[in-house]
Amino acid sequence: MKLNDVHNRTFKTLRVSLTNTCNLACTYCVNDANYQDQAQNISILSVENLVKIISKINQTLDLQTIRLTGGEPTLYKDIIPLIKSIAQIGPKIKLTTNGFLLKNLVQKLDGNELDSINVSLDALDEDIFFKISKRRSLYKIIEGIDAALAKGIHVKLNCVVIKGVNESQILPILAFAFERKISVRFLEIMKMGHLYADAESLFFSQNDILKVINQKYTFSKMIRSDAATANYWQTSEGNKFGIIANETEPFCGDCNRLRLDSYGNIFGCLSSNTPINITQNIDNEVILEQNLQNAMNQKQDYKFIGSNLSMLEIGG
Ligand code: 5AD
Repeated sequence: MKLNDVHNRTFKTLRVSLTNTCNLACTYCVNDANYQDQAQNISILSVENLVKIISKINQTLDLQTIRLTGGEPTLYKDIIPLIKSIAQIGPKIKLTTNGFLLKNLVQKLDGNELDSINVSLDALDEDIFFKISKRRSLYKIIEGIDAALAKGIHVKLNCVVIKGVNESQILPILAFAFERKISVRFLEIMKMGHLYADAESLFFSQNDILKVINQKYTFSKMIRSDAATANYWQTSEGNKFGIIANETEPFCGDCNRLRLDSYGNIFGCLSSNTPINITQNIDNEVILEQNLQNAMNQKQDYKFIGSNLSMLEIGG
């Protein structure tokens, strides 16, 4: 299907949020220190429904990538059968996770179902990790990363840099990634959910991040590939790192992402808070195409503006 768009954009990556709940309570996502995941209490889409929706979208758009995300996707009870079923559809499957339950998950996989796993790792210091996530047991994430690597699965790290909280973790996380030869991206904090009104005091920019990295490394900028979320640099030793600079260098112009939330709504843009339900008429091609066009119309032209939905709701 050819979508109409002033920038000639299309949807090639479908981000599927499997749950709208999480077993961590990171400050940038939830505003409640006592937050507990609601996995038992929410009604979420069944494997059968998800496979159907994803297949229909894929038939219409010829996707390249399906990324499973959340909330926290590893809390989805049937994630193994889901991954095995989606593997039949065709596009590459990737996963974004906080890593807490990753070790258990990868042990149940053959190793070739997932193309890569993005693990959120905002700190290597236990106390800073606790301050951000309100949880202990950081070692579980490290074990999850190493279990995935042992299975031969490609791993990338995501670190959201929060001013006054974890800028001291940038160099240790870089060293951790370089040691394991895995890629790492630092994220500027985004105005999502409770931060929509004001994220200014927590904002640590791409330039600020580069200044910290420059204390230890010299590096040069690499050429950005099409539809990439991150800018990449290479150190003089040949190690790579990336920065996702939604605020200071938005990449809306060639964004190819479509989001499906855990209720069966699609969103064409992280900055949109208007859900488009696609479950009701999933068998009607005309309506599906119209819904996809409406999602495309939600894309911003060039600027990330944020939304009052947190990543828990719209999908990370
Ligand atoms: N700002 C920046 N990154 C965020 N993430 C979740 N919420 C925010 C936010 N407000 C990150 C998660 C995960 C990725 C999908 O998005 O940490 O790594």
